[in-house]
Amino acid sequence: MDRKQIIEDPQTGNKAEAYEAFDDIPANPNLSRTIGDVITARYGRRKMLKGMLGVSATAALFGASALTAPRQAGAVGSPAGSRYAFNELAWGNDETHHVAEGYDAEILLRWGDPITAEAPEFDVMNQSAEAQLQQFGYNNDYIGFLPLNDDGTRGLLCVNHEYTNEEVMFPGLGRQDKADFAGMTKELVDIEMAAHGGSVVEIIRSNDGRWSVVRDGAYNRRISPLNTAMTLDGPAAGHPRMQTSADPSGAAVTGTLNNCAGGMTPWGTWLMAEENFHGYFWTDKLDEDGKPDLSGQPEAAQMKRYGAPGGWYAWGKYYDRFNIDKEPNEVNRFGWVVEVDPRNPDAKPVKHTALGRFRHEGAETTTSKDGHLVVYMGDDARFDYQYKYVSRGTVSDDPAANATLLSEGTLYVGRFDADGSVHWLPLVHGHGPLTAENGFASQADVLIDARLAADALGATPMDRPEDAQPRGDGTAYIMLTNNSKRTAGQTDAANPRADSNFGHIIEIKEDGGDHAATKGSWTILVKCGDPQIAEVGAEWNPETSEHGWFGSPDNCAFDADGRLWVSTDQGSKWGMTGKSDGLYGVETEGALRGHSKLFFRCPVGGELCGPYFAPDGETLFLAVQHPGTDGTRDLKGFERASTFEDPATRWPDFDPKMPPRPSLVAVTRKGGGKIAV
Ligand code: FEO
Ligand code: CA
Repeated sequence: MDRKQIIEDPQTGNKAEAYEAFDDIPANPNLSRTIGDVITARYGRRKMLKGMLGVSATAALFGASALTAPRQAGAVGSPAGSRYAFNELAWGNDETHHVAEGYDAEILLRWGDPITAEAPEFDVMNQSAEAQLQQFGYNNDYIGFLPLNDDGTRGLLCVNHEYTNEEVMFPGLGRQDKADFAGMTKELVDIEMAAHGGSVVEIIRSNDGRWSVVRDGAYNRRISPLNTAMTLDGPAAGHPRMQTSADPSGAAVTGTLNNCAGGMTPWGTWLMAEENFHGYFWTDKLDEDGKPDLSGQPEAAQMKRYGAPGGWYAWGKYYDRFNIDKEPNEVNRFGWVVEVDPRNPDAKPVKHTALGRFRHEGAETTTSKDGHLVVYMGDDARFDYQYKYVSRGTVSDDPAANATLLSEGTLYVGRFDADGSVHWLPLVHGHGPLTAENGFASQADVLIDARLAADALGATPMDRPEDAQPRGDGTAYIMLTNNSKRTAGQTDAANPRADSNFGHIIEIKEDGGDHAATKGSWTILVKCGDPQIAEVGAEWNPETSEHGWFGSPDNCAFDADGRLWVSTDQGSKWGMTGKSDGLYGVETEGALRGHSKLFFRCPVGGELCGPYFAPDGETLFLAVQHPGTDGTRDLKGFERASTFEDPATRWPDFDPKMPPRPSLVAVTRKGGGKIAV
């Protein structure tokens, strides 16, 4: 998700006025093409309209060539020595997906597909929350795969459903209706709540190599913010700040939301990261500028630091718990990492407060040299931080013995120094500034207010930390997607570009090759963007082709051979590159270090999530999120925002009665074999 087109969407025109108008409004990586309208309607529409009369900011910055017509897919060669054995795909942007030659990229699961034996078939014109709770959810993001047999031909997909795009999900809303939520009845709100959360789905691979859904799989289920009971554990569970009128215990909560990336643990559980939770909270109290009035809130400073209430959805109109005027503590019960046991449908998911409360992008795991669990986690906001968690106990072969590893441990935040060292600073009550005198009365306060604790510790404000992927050798890669609000005076060694529209990737090597180390070294692997435009300041391996460079790294994964793959989310910034979002193999070693090569690309307006490799390396699962939405005003020949009735693409069905549907794609090699080997 990308929050920036609220300012940089070409239709919003005057950049400076847009900045001024929205300076106090929490940045929003969700709903990138519509959030401008949502926030404007709620919190200051007239000011935004002033900014809609100018010319395209994109065109002004990069010239008309940014609005490039699509190119055709095809193989375009590969440099000698590449560790990624495929012919590079040509860049472009059109209404469908493309994969490198020699591979199949088949649709495996679409929004609305039934995932239980009892589930009704999808009927887009007659949606209901009841049906959606048995069907694949919206905006698939993180994908995990848990094998159920020795050869990995049967397994469970664990998929996050991050958010909803109502204007292409429901008929008749249009953009104006959505902007003031006038069309969002309780019935529609319930459907979109049911479409959030996650899905566990059993899949099976047949002899011809194709995957299909096992609809009556015993483990298949939906998790949603509408009705899934969860528990809270760790130091903040039960604290008075976690108590609500519906839950005086402070240890039971209904559901999870805005689940972006995630991770799988070594013992086969699934971690769902709660990212932009602030956006779901509502207030009826607005100041004279139409912005939230927090003057009566005892935790106004904390709410402001977290950007709550965001007012992105109408949920607070119908559910008191999402209205901070009525239930101010409910916002403290989101922004955590949730652990789900996919093989135990009766087990309640657990929100682990020991991992801190922030806009968790992901939660990828590894183990230290002596067996502690380590989780790398980004806080995806401009000028927020990179964290990691180290468990107190060590990982056991007995899954039951691992139950406390995410409940007892130390949360650290990163300080990236100019000498190339990274120091991991512990968020521990009583250490350094984390004392009652500074507003942290207990470890619960430190974790609920993790951002404030990290501020006090002097962590390095980063350019939107997205996914972070550790490798077993003590190395980790962190995706810093972009930060066009960083000024020249705010640059530092680890975030070296002002007005950074394209982001960069940092490589961390922990001291001693040990992920539990409290110190390591860092280097920048690549600075993203077009290497042909000097002002961009991109740095790639010089062998990188015009097809291979990218902007806005977001999710990432290693394959079975330890090679890094990076997917992108440019939001409406794709108008600056002309390229659709896609998946790239990025070399981390040898003479081609910093070389990037395009393997897969999304249909227009889609963001690429996942990716996840099956353990045998023969299948790559990809998640195409919100096809047809982001930045379609930049699509030559379309040049307008998508709606249900008038979308920029109807991928993947291309049925004139069906809107675009977020979908999972399974990539396999024609004739079989490992991918890119
Ligand atoms: Fe959900 Fe930071 O992307
Ligand atoms: Ca992401």
